[in-house]
Amino acid sequence: DRYQLWGGCFQEEPSDVLRRLNDSLCVDVRLYQQDIRGSIAWARELNRCGYITDDDYEAIYQGLKKVETEISEELCKNGRLSDAEEDIHSVVERRLRTHAGEAALRLHTARSRNDQSATNTKLWMMDNLTNLINEIKKLIMVLKDRAENEIEIIIPGYTHLQRAQPIRWSHFLLSYAWMLRDDVLRLEEQQCRLSRCPLGSGALAGCALDIDRERLARSLGFECVTPNSLFAVGSRDHILEFLNWSSMCGMHLSRLAEDLILYGSQEFNLVKFADQFSTGSSLMPQKRNPDGLELIRGAAGVLLGDAIAFSCVLKGLPSTYNKDLQSDKEIMFRSYDKLLDCFKVVTGTITTMKVNAARGEALLESGMLATDMAHALVRRGVPFRRAHHLVGAVLQRAAELAVDLREMPHEEYIAICPEFESKADIEKLFSWEASVEQYISTGGTAKAAVKQQITQLKEWLK
Ligand code: ARG
Repeated sequence: DRYQLWGGCFQEEPSDVLRRLNDSLCVDVRLYQQDIRGSIAWARELNRCGYITDDDYEAIYQGLKKVETEISEELCKNGRLSDAEEDIHSVVERRLRTHAGEAALRLHTARSRNDQSATNTKLWMMDNLTNLINEIKKLIMVLKDRAENEIEIIIPGYTHLQRAQPIRWSHFLLSYAWMLRDDVLRLEEQQCRLSRCPLGSGALAGCALDIDRERLARSLGFECVTPNSLFAVGSRDHILEFLNWSSMCGMHLSRLAEDLILYGSQEFNLVKFADQFSTGSSLMPQKRNPDGLELIRGAAGVLLGDAIAFSCVLKGLPSTYNKDLQSDKEIMFRSYDKLLDCFKVVTGTITTMKVNAARGEALLESGMLATDMAHALVRRGVPFRRAHHLVGAVLQRAAELAVDLREMPHEEYIAICPEFESKADIEKLFSWEASVEQYISTGGTAKAAVKQQITQLKEWLK
């Protein structure tokens, strides 16, 4: 028979279809450890304040430990609980009764599932979000290691997906490492709002018993307590913050995925993905598809959708707890699981892919040095705006003559601008290495500037 935490004033059972909509066990079973940890802390606080005896506390504590073991074993074996109860709170309490008897009836004193559920979710986040931070750090490490080992490789840098200027491949990789580092910092910055304990807020009005909420909060690893019970039971802003954060991470991974998908196409042929991170076609034997990266690009859309979906759930809710809030966990777990896998797949893909250095060089063309050519004129005293136009004329002339800039006769340069008088100066421009090495100031693509980034990231990763 189904154990229900309420129903004294009801004559009939809820309809099957309402039950189906209402039951959340298949989702919130994932919180069983947090639920039990929260209950032990709650019982201990009640005991310390004289509301339950030492014997009852001991029975509850031992009973909850047994329930935890039982549930963990059943989940290991079956992957789910077959209990008929509506949620994990009811399951734990019913099972506790079989181990602790009458004492179990005292556990829920002055507590509501509203503060309990809010606390469980926060505890779960405090326990699990560091997994995401660790995965992001692994990815940053892989990017940094590749950047260090492949610093000699020069590739075209693009704006508007048009060839722009030569850059170091490492510089490209590190651009994502920095983006991801900000993601880590952002998640850490949310910690102070997450780490406020809602327990002791009751259903909405607070706790009528004289308990020490600060002590209770600290015993659960929180930094402090929620300052207002209505806010505590009705807010899911910390979850929304997490979902918004996830959607931003997803967006970053999606952009990285898109770059790599392009670079892995035959047209670019800059990178090749390992078998482990490629998939084939059922029809075309030659195909090697970057499905993992495409799934990540797609997942970013779902993550963004989930963040917006949950905003829509919250918008317009009246104060304090409303059952709409129950969807928080389903969405949060889904985003968390998806994002964690995405990070792992990106990290695996980047660790195992090969970069084609020769192809990087082959994709460079002399037009990408036009900016450097303008700078050469600036060094000879030509104002930049004029230099920009003059180099434009050089490019146009080369196109007319159908020659590469490197092959265009020196007289043609001088005819456009006398400051091109030194042939050697022009010839010096036609080196990819010399080009990138000019960009030496902080944040640039010269080797020293890239190495500086690597050092900073290493320092941060420590
Ligand atoms: N399962 C609910 C949730 O996760 C717990 C709170 C239920 N409270 C209530 N008054 N129905 O949001």
